[in-house]
Amino acid sequence: MAATRPYVVVFSTTTVDGRIASSTGFSMLSCRYDKARLLLLRGLVDAVMVGASTVLIDDSTLRKRLAPRRSRYLRVVVDGRLRLHPGLRLFREPGPPVIVLTGSEDSRKRRLLEEAGAEVVVAGSGGRVDLAKALRLLLEDYGVRRLLVEGGGVTTYGLLRGGLVDELRVTVTPYVFGAGRSVVDDPGGVGFLTAPEGPGLEPICVEMCPCGRCVHMAYRVLAAAGVAADTPPPVCLSREARRAVDEGWEPVR
Ligand SMILES: NC(=O)c1ccc[n+]([C@@H]2O[C@H](COP(=O)([O-])OP(=O)(O)OC[C@H]3O[C@@H](n4cnc5c(N)ncnc54)[C@H](OP(=O)(O)O)[C@@H]3O)[C@@H](O)[C@H]2O)c1
Repeated sequence: MAATRPYVVVFSTTTVDGRIASSTGFSMLSCRYDKARLLLLRGLVDAVMVGASTVLIDDSTLRKRLAPRRSRYLRVVVDGRLRLHPGLRLFREPGPPVIVLTGSEDSRKRRLLEEAGAEVVVAGSGGRVDLAKALRLLLEDYGVRRLLVEGGGVTTYGLLRGGLVDELRVTVTPYVFGAGRSVVDDPGGVGFLTAPEGPGLEPICVEMCPCGRCVHMAYRVLAAAGVAADTPPPVCLSREARRAVDEGWEPVR
């Protein structure tokens, strides 16, 4: 059967109560090994994807990778209403191509981002991005066979709701926020109403992080919709993360 989307891995770092950010947007949870694990995973995929709020709040470049398997790498943002702006580091600093997936027809905002160097792709309407269509475009038009989604919770919810995730990888850190953004978060405040209604998950890896304080877990999503174009990247990566930190590997920027 022909592939309809990339192999999709979601990676998040959470508190014990499943939060990726506090009520003020504070989200610095990762230890150095977890950061290395994420950068190694970036090196194993063709593109990274995040939601617009993550870029607006964190102002991250999504650029660093460790031991990349190929030079081609894309940075993708789901930005339904084109809230991104050229002042963000994603546009100001040099780096791999940026693709903005939108459901907006606003030509002025579109031009601003294109002038800043992004490629703006309409994959939806009325401010909504059709995520299944967007993933198909990434595969067919951009050759993205493995995709790493780094959140946030709203983007992850949309992908899980659409059956578009193959693996959930979560590092649980020894903190509690009690409020804020959850690792999977329905902005409509409804979510999956019962356990069977949500995605079926099968654990495929559990490891104590080399820092000795965090636990990393990976789950395969059962009955994911569509046909993935690639195989899974290696799971957990704690040994590799320890080596990268201990041997002082320098990320590609
Ligand atoms: N600890 C971690 O691992 C981690 C990882 C990532 C992020 N974070 C934190 O999480 C917070 C942000 O997460 P978040 O859940 O609030 O937001 P998010 O998922 O980063 O972004 C959500 C926004 O992306 C756009 N979007 C996503 N799916 C869409 C769709 N199908 N159609 C149209 N637009 C879509 C929407 O923008 P519009 O509203 O403009 O339509 C939506 O409001 C930040 O504080 C960040 O620091 C933490």
